[in-house]
Amino acid sequence: MTKKETFQKEFEDHVKEGLTSHPKFLSSKYIYDEKGDKLFQQIMALPEYYLTDCEYNIIDTYKEDLRETFSNENDFDLIELGAGDGKKTKVLLKELVDNNVDFTYKPIDISQNSIDYLIKDLLDLFPNLDAQGEQGTYFKVLQELAQYDKRPKVILVLGSNIGNLNHPEAIDFLGKLKDIMSPRDLLFMGFDQKKDPLTIQTAYADPQGVTQEFNRNLLHRINKEMQADFPVEDFEHWEAYDPETGTAKSYLLATKDCTVQINALDLKVDFKKWETIHTEISQKYDDDIVEWLAQKAGLEIIKFYEDDREFYKDYLFKVK
Ligand code: AVJ
Repeated sequence: MTKKETFQKEFEDHVKEGLTSHPKFLSSKYIYDEKGDKLFQQIMALPEYYLTDCEYNIIDTYKEDLRETFSNENDFDLIELGAGDGKKTKVLLKELVDNNVDFTYKPIDISQNSIDYLIKDLLDLFPNLDAQGEQGTYFKVLQELAQYDKRPKVILVLGSNIGNLNHPEAIDFLGKLKDIMSPRDLLFMGFDQKKDPLTIQTAYADPQGVTQEFNRNLLHRINKEMQADFPVEDFEHWEAYDPETGTAKSYLLATKDCTVQINALDLKVDFKKWETIHTEISQKYDDDIVEWLAQKAGLEIIKFYEDDREFYKDYLFKVK
């Protein structure tokens, strides 16, 4: 099977499992096709979606410190997982390039499209940048990362992407990163922090409805790729932030009774009015939780960087 066929099979198995379970669920990782990527870029530009601005602020404010900490007078590999459009990384790359730091930038993303676009964009901005993109899924990428051991490496995971994982999954992910890190390597990772619940709630339920379209893209994809007939407009986005657990949960909510036929799966799915499909978690953190996750994964926090509104932190880890 080609990579694409394997992915499609996984997607189909997932939809079958999720829509025959009680309660129903679908994973947000399948939102990101070309249209999903674009909608996420629109989310990042929303005034309500503070995460991107906060991390931009952190990197811009502490770029000198980051340059010195990352390079430590050595040449190194800068590996970014889930690079996307690189808006925040560009600030860091500029700082490194302007100061003639010897490094290779390796952005890794699930979407070949975004990788190609990003590399071209970066080479226009920084003609001398040594950049080598890599397309790959989570697992494949972690295996490949193990080979980059000639030089010290710094692994970037920005955007609080870890927030889509529940705590056991996050520990597993951090543990796998730890396994491919040597004692001289660093991990720089963004964790959105607990804050006024309304600020979080609004970031994931913008009044323009961009987040709703983003969430609905799951149904559009199933319609398109599995010959299904979801009445997409009859499913509303619902967001629920629980300040006790720090978990923001997204749902698609059926506003009418309906039956959906998914031809590629030979499956009929009934929805009752107000029935939910749980689609995403966006976990929020504090220092205690991050310390606990790190300790479980065999990592140690060296320091953290915070934005000026105290909404968001990037933590620097090394192997314990
Ligand atoms: C890309 C996972 C960091 O959870 O904040 C944005 C995705 N979902 N709005 C997040 C998302 C709804 C985002 N991450």
